[in-house]
Amino acid sequence: MSEGQGSVLQFPRQTDLTIIKEGRTKIIVPRRSMEAPNPPKQPGFFNPLAEICRDVSVALTRVVAKRLGVGVSVGDPLSSLGARGLRIAVEAPEVDEVHMNDLNPSALACAEEAARLNNVVEKCRFSNLDACLFLMQHSRKGSRFNLVDIDPFGSPALFVDCGLRAVKNGGLLSVTATDSPVLCGLHPEVALRRYGGVSLRVDYSHEIGARLLAALVVKEAARLDLAAVPVFAHTRRLYTRVFFRVVHDVEQASAMLGNLGFINHCYRCNNRVVSPSMLKECSCGATLRSAGPVWIHRLCDPDLVKEAQGLPSPSEKSEIKALFNMALQEADMPPYYYLLDKEAKRIRAAPPKLQRVLDLLVSQGYLASRTSFDPKGFKTDARANVVHEATKKAVRA
Ligand SMILES: C[S@@+](CC[C@H](N)C(=O)[O-])C[C@H]1O[C@@H](n2cnc3c(N)ncnc32)[C@H](O)[C@@H]1O
Ligand SMILES: [Zn+2]
Repeated sequence: MSEGQGSVLQFPRQTDLTIIKEGRTKIIVPRRSMEAPNPPKQPGFFNPLAEICRDVSVALTRVVAKRLGVGVSVGDPLSSLGARGLRIAVEAPEVDEVHMNDLNPSALACAEEAARLNNVVEKCRFSNLDACLFLMQHSRKGSRFNLVDIDPFGSPALFVDCGLRAVKNGGLLSVTATDSPVLCGLHPEVALRRYGGVSLRVDYSHEIGARLLAALVVKEAARLDLAAVPVFAHTRRLYTRVFFRVVHDVEQASAMLGNLGFINHCYRCNNRVVSPSMLKECSCGATLRSAGPVWIHRLCDPDLVKEAQGLPSPSEKSEIKALFNMALQEADMPPYYYLLDKEAKRIRAAPPKLQRVLDLLVSQGYLASRTSFDPKGFKTDARANVVHEATKKAVRA
């Protein structure tokens, strides 16, 4: 069943392991991952806080696999203990094969044992290779996957090229980044090197980070004559994640580059302007600072997300329905948001009810919604000065 160099996988019996259930899947994890704030990397890494992230993977995989039909395969090149791959094998009956790969043999051995516990051994393949080598072995026509998930420690920049090459036409690539300080504007020189663009330290940095990550994948895909179309994105404090439909179409690949641009921010009046190239001056006279090049178009495919929303929740506590709901509401909103507590701070007041601000903006003819990027955030097409006035009014009400 195992392939690759480390085919004799040693199950780490001496270690303090435990079996947990996430969704409907049993996963073997180090006991300490459930207790410590920083989960250990040995004998394998498991972050219980990323459950929602795996819930989303299972749901979107199911929708895409259902659309594709028979013979659907998934590649999980950085699988660790197999939390994501196993959940797909167990909870996505539409998927026929899941290939889990990791450099860490003890993590793979746990994944293999858990596949037995979950009765999905026939669906699962295991290999112990460098992720790029694994993906390149699946980069030829006939050996590609329908879905590939890139979930490394830190930046995924190293794995994007080979990940794209290993996805079949019409398949899905999902990419996670956990270098949030870089994506959120703390280290512009590192962001430029890894992502080919810069972020800004602003209230909506998390969205800029997701859009910077999306831009990297779109550019890498275009270089390979592929179109990578963002279909869903979400962030939590620890990670940023974007899903792409990969299309083998040269013209579409070129057209995608037209959706890259800049978000120009004014630190004096809080104004934000989206443009194809960098802008220098704000209408208030102050100098604008630019984030980009970032993806400035939709991050959500409403048809895909609506279908995923219709699936049963993986568990009672899952927040997945609310997340999909918010993503649908903000699909056509501008590529930035405001933070309620920061807006209230500008007028030295306690934050009013978020719904009150949204209602006031809508009553003035603007679009307004919550955002999946931050529970205290909201999006609107109103200018910053209108948001400011609406917040004041909501505080007084
Ligand atoms: C964040 S963990 C993966 C978590 C897993 N996907 C999940 O959902 O629980 C990253 C994994 O990548 C593996 N890894 C790091 N560099 C690698 C490489 N070059 N090739 C293969 N695996 C690698 C590590 O051993 C680790 O298990
Ligand atoms: Zn200004």
